Amino acid sequence: MKVPYFDLKRQYKLIKPQLESRVIKTLRSTQYSLGKEVEVFEDNFSSFLDAKYCTGVNTGTSALHLALLALGIGHGDEVITVSMTFIATVMSISYTGATPVFVDIDNKTQLINCKHIIDKISSKTKAIVVVHLYGQCAEMKQINKIAKKHNLSVIEDSSQAHGAKYHNRHAGTMSDIGTFSFYPGKNLGATGEGGAIITNNKKLDQKVKELRNWSQPKRYFHNDISYNYRMDTIQAAALNVKLKYLNEWTLKRRRIASEYQCRLKNGKLEFSYEKPNNFHVYHIFSLFCENRLSLQKYLNKNKIGTNFHYPVPAHLQKPYINLGYKKGDFPITETIANSQISIPIFPEMKKNEIDYVIKIINNF
Ligand SMILES: Cc1ncc(COP(=O)(O)O)c(C=O)c1O
Repeated sequence: MKVPYFDLKRQYKLIKPQLESRVIKTLRSTQYSLGKEVEVFEDNFSSFLDAKYCTGVNTGTSALHLALLALGIGHGDEVITVSMTFIATVMSISYTGATPVFVDIDNKTQLINCKHIIDKISSKTKAIVVVHLYGQCAEMKQINKIAKKHNLSVIEDSSQAHGAKYHNRHAGTMSDIGTFSFYPGKNLGATGEGGAIITNNKKLDQKVKELRNWSQPKRYFHNDISYNYRMDTIQAAALNVKLKYLNEWTLKRRRIASEYQCRLKNGKLEFSYEKPNNFHVYHIFSLFCENRLSLQKYLNKNKIGTNFHYPVPAHLQKPYINLGYKKGDFPITETIANSQISIPIFPEMKKNEIDYVIKIINNF
């Protein structure tokens, strides 16, 4: 048996007729950038999340960049975030000229450790970028309380958390701005690149809509340094089809996670943990193993796909050497970077594949 880490072909087969007809309709319309289909997606996605406004953009990275700019973040500012994330979270802060300031994560959840945030707040701190890593929401009540007290903006990087909830509220809707990626491998993925910005604040919504399209209230008359971060219309068409399946796909991911949690039994391993009052959407199912390289070799030998999320934390990446961090600065982040391994979890996984993964891991 062979179990891939992820297999988009299966999803494609399931939705082929609807996907192809909507994409072909868009092709025939010759509207290829923004337009009605993007507006429909913005309405659909904001309704899905119970949020007021949505702006479709070209990537999740652009969504983060525009969210930071709309909140007025720039040169000389500091933005608190985690080092255990995909690098886009951190790079988007750098794009604005602001400095990322890292906080360690919680050992059990791999999410930002709220206890350490206060120590990192300075007179230059303007915002916190929270990452709902692996599909689980960070402790937003505590984070919002700290932000309010210190007059900081909050952005939720929800690129791995489409449909995740915390105390019944959707990831991306509990702060000033939420951002999403629709990279094809995400829980809600486009057929290319895509991203979105979510807010309940009308002014912020207007600002990001201006910034994504050259800030031109009238064609060729520009108000601000701005960008071409427009959403591709074909991607909106694909997302409009796929969004209808998201709840069903999420439940399937959760069922697989529950099988793993109940039936994986191996003293050498620890597993993803789901907090109470929380709806985890399992973009990634993590195992933690001291000897993860030998686990990876063993799984790959048994034809089970794996991944590491993420092997080198941001504070130890080359572009951030100038910030002066060193090994040992964020012990939990570094332990996770050296011990985490992701195993297959995708809605179309078959029962015999799940059983096989469990059997092989239990025999490790
Ligand atoms: C946590 C996180 N933030 C941001 C991004 C960036 O999204 P995109 O690849 O759409 O630019 C990703 C995508 O991998 C991500 O996982």
